[in-house]
Amino acid sequence: MHIAMKGINKSFGGVQVLNDAEFEITDGEVHALMGENGAGKSTLMKILTGVYTRDSGTVIVDGREVRYKSPQEAEKDGIVFIYQELNSLEDLTVEANVFLGKEIRNSFGVCDKKAMAEKTREILNKLGVNIEPSEVMSDLSVGQQQMIEIAKALMVDAKVIIMDEPTAALTQGETVILFDVIKSLREKGVSIVYISHRMEEIFQLCDRITILRDGNYIGTEKITDIDINEVVKMMIGREIGERYPKRNTPIGEEILKVEALTKKGKFENISFSVRKGEVLGISGLMGSGRTEIMQAIFGNLPFESGKIEIEGKPAIISSPEHAIRYGIGFITEDRKEEGLMLEESIEKNVSLTNLDKISRKNVVIEKKKEDELVERAIKDLNIKCFGPSHECNKLSGGNQQKVVFAKWIYSNPKILLLDEPTRGVDVGAKKEIYTIMNELASKGLAIVMASSDLPEILGMSDRIMVVREGLIQGILEQKEADQEKIMILATGGVI
Ligand SMILES: Nc1ncnc2c1ncn2[C@@H]1O[C@H](COP(=O)(O)OP(=O)(O)OP(=O)(O)O)[C@@H](O)[C@H]1O
Ligand SMILES: [Mg+2]
Repeated sequence: MHIAMKGINKSFGGVQVLNDAEFEITDGEVHALMGENGAGKSTLMKILTGVYTRDSGTVIVDGREVRYKSPQEAEKDGIVFIYQELNSLEDLTVEANVFLGKEIRNSFGVCDKKAMAEKTREILNKLGVNIEPSEVMSDLSVGQQQMIEIAKALMVDAKVIIMDEPTAALTQGETVILFDVIKSLREKGVSIVYISHRMEEIFQLCDRITILRDGNYIGTEKITDIDINEVVKMMIGREIGERYPKRNTPIGEEILKVEALTKKGKFENISFSVRKGEVLGISGLMGSGRTEIMQAIFGNLPFESGKIEIEGKPAIISSPEHAIRYGIGFITEDRKEEGLMLEESIEKNVSLTNLDKISRKNVVIEKKKEDELVERAIKDLNIKCFGPSHECNKLSGGNQQKVVFAKWIYSNPKILLLDEPTRGVDVGAKKEIYTIMNELASKGLAIVMASSDLPEILGMSDRIMVVREGLIQGILEQKEADQEKIMILATGGVI
């Protein structure tokens, strides 16, 4: 299928977010769409698929001008969108979600559950995911839910699949499977629009790349004619230098110690410690227990045995409130469920976790202090918005993640737990987040960071703890660690 978008303009509430944007894709091509957070990538693709209407411009699909009124209409032409923000019905089962609106019916018009379960299982097997079709969506991890979104797209006989940050919630192993799926789709002539902030993936997978900046079209290049530095420069208009800024912080005394933490079926005998000024990375495949270990330390997941010590004293943490009182901050992987109140403003989200800073006795908010704090957050993290009152669900994906970060970093935690802290965040903003992590570490904060982005884990951690099926497989010093060693440990090998 050939698609050409030209002269696309779009504003929201008087603010122009796309300005004469263009995009073109041909048969069997994997085409990267890149740009900073808020550059307009998702909006451009939502215009293509009829989620939004364009203010002006043309969209030509196989020689015919189209103006889809809904994603269902685009889907009929074979254009399928896998959204950045997960889009499933949480209370329904996997198979119900996969077949939503496309149920298989028998000759009496009744849903053929058996046939649907079979077909679902077949697609999930192809994706290498071990999930029962009868499981309820809300019981799945974010990564598993993402795989279901991909399965939904494979159900339709798609000619063009738009993947908006598909690997943001996936681990290395799943990413490899997804790439194989993409390559076999390409061989069949299916075209993929691939939106991602992970440079390595773009260069590994894509044929061409189109770059947007502030809603403007910057250019389209063959991937073989360009390198990472040039892409970064086209995206943000300047060079950023070292992607992982160095940290020269002396590492101090132990502040968090976890001993033999166990919750059967999730993790067992987890023992490690983190010192002041140190960044401990946690690496592991999906379902390895990374998130659960952090949830347990934060009091969100009761554990059966083991203990937690903070500053050398036993800590009793059975709820997030306790954890916060002990000085623990937690940036969760799931910004939709736990991280953000999406209907609320940036201001509301940031001030709620910082009440002690901006109010008297946590009751009366001092407006001036609140404004100062929120404006500082917007500036420090370069959050792209109309102002503090910008509703979070109207921010681009990466900017929502920055708000999650802003909620915690000003509350002076002693220990910061980060679960996929830069998911969906662009290169420039990633570096801003890393710089903030380094500043916090240099003030003596201890940071525990789980991430499936291996270059990030290697670039930012002092030590790397690799977990597999709820067990620690090894803890590597930064100097001795590399991608291969981590993957060997994560998949059950020994080094
Ligand atoms: N429904 C909406 N209402 C108001 N503004 C919106 C809406 N959707 C997007 N925007 C704004 O349009 C701009 C472009 O957003 P878009 O989601 O397209 O960015 P993006 O390039 O996909 O970024 P990211 O990499 O963070 O996902 C942003 O400034 C965003 O705040
Ligand atoms: Mg987006």
